[in-house]
Amino acid sequence: MAREVTHEERGPAILDESDAGDDGLIYVCQCGLSDAKPLCDGSHNATDDEADGVVYKYSNDDADGERREVGEIDGGRRGVNSERREIDGNDDADR
Ligand code: FES
Repeated sequence: MAREVTHEERGPAILDESDAGDDGLIYVCQCGLSDAKPLCDGSHNATDDEADGVVYKYSNDDADGERREVGEIDGGRRGVNSERREIDGNDDADR
């Protein structure tokens, strides 16, 4: 299981204690689907049934968006579709 996400930020996010949850911990999103990046918002639950070895793309990088397979992980390398992709602000375009 893996997924493609589009990041537009060009620098780090600075976190502090105000980002901590009720338990005092800061949960950083690692699935790429959070609407509250860099913080986890629970969107990772959408990945629970992803199959091992498959690379997915969620429409608009939204956990509620359509999920489709875009490649596979082969021998530790991510063999994602090799076609060149245009960045047009619409993640739905022929992906
Ligand atoms: S790890 Fe990405 S939303 Fe939780």
